[in-house]
Amino acid sequence: MAYSNRSLPEEELSVNPAMLTGCLSLGYYGFMEELTPGRIREGLATEFVGQKIVYYESIGSTNEVARGLVDKGAPEGTLVIAEEQTAGKGRLGRRWIAPAGMGLLFSLLLYPDLTLKQVPRLTMLASLAVAEAIESVTGLAVRFKWPNDILIRGRKAGGVLTEVGVTGERLDYVVVGIGLNVNWNPSQVPELAGKATSLSEELGREVSRLELLQRLLIYMEGGYLRLQEGYLPHKVFTSRLADVGEKVEVVLPRGKEEGFVEGVDADGALLLRREDGSTVGVTMGEVA
Ligand code: BTN
Repeated sequence: MAYSNRSLPEEELSVNPAMLTGCLSLGYYGFMEELTPGRIREGLATEFVGQKIVYYESIGSTNEVARGLVDKGAPEGTLVIAEEQTAGKGRLGRRWIAPAGMGLLFSLLLYPDLTLKQVPRLTMLASLAVAEAIESVTGLAVRFKWPNDILIRGRKAGGVLTEVGVTGERLDYVVVGIGLNVNWNPSQVPELAGKATSLSEELGREVSRLELLQRLLIYMEGGYLRLQEGYLPHKVFTSRLADVGEKVEVVLPRGKEEGFVEGVDADGALLLRREDGSTVGVTMGEVA
């Protein structure tokens, strides 16, 4: 079962590929740092996250590859990383499109001791690892839009797509996919102008993808180990949530819900205070 596997029409694409080709000639900085397994592993101070690396120059979706590796006995923490995805997946059936070699596109395979309901804890953890890595490498402040958007100055710089494998009620594995705009310029794509950004766009200079990735893997492992000991990341996640105190409309799979954002609960549900004073926890949907 996947959290985000509905098909949506073309206009729901995160980026139109044709527009992207046009933007590359305008927005490409010309700096390309290789993310080969040898370079990633060199000096990577983790025990298991990113110690097994599956690397592609180009692949459909790293999340799909990671899922396929489960039956082959891939170990916990396996990193699947690509310079380019031809069928990158976003949430709610959208596509995640990014130019080759200018961002981070990867998935981590995990076998956590969690129930299905608790899986969003991993999405929160991954978002926090992304935020901490960006802040420590660049100094940029990172906030979140529920449930999985990584924001810088109010614009989307990345996202997390968590997918699971289950047998009945039992959680077999989790794939945490992360896409991050690093050294390209999404604002030159008309559909994304004002909505998306990248680290280089915010900083006016390029950022080392390798350093960013290694920090992120270290933070992810630290958080994951704590999570397995019972740590709950929702309070720290809430402290970075962009809409706290604001009135929002959440588009649900069926219908919508309106209310003032109070935060998220331990399992990642968005807590909304309705006009009548009651509080509701929203588990699926999108803040409009
Ligand atoms: C979203 O914001 O909708 C989530 C985007 C997640 C994209 C990443 S890129 C690496 C991994 N592989 C995929 O196919 N998707 C995720």
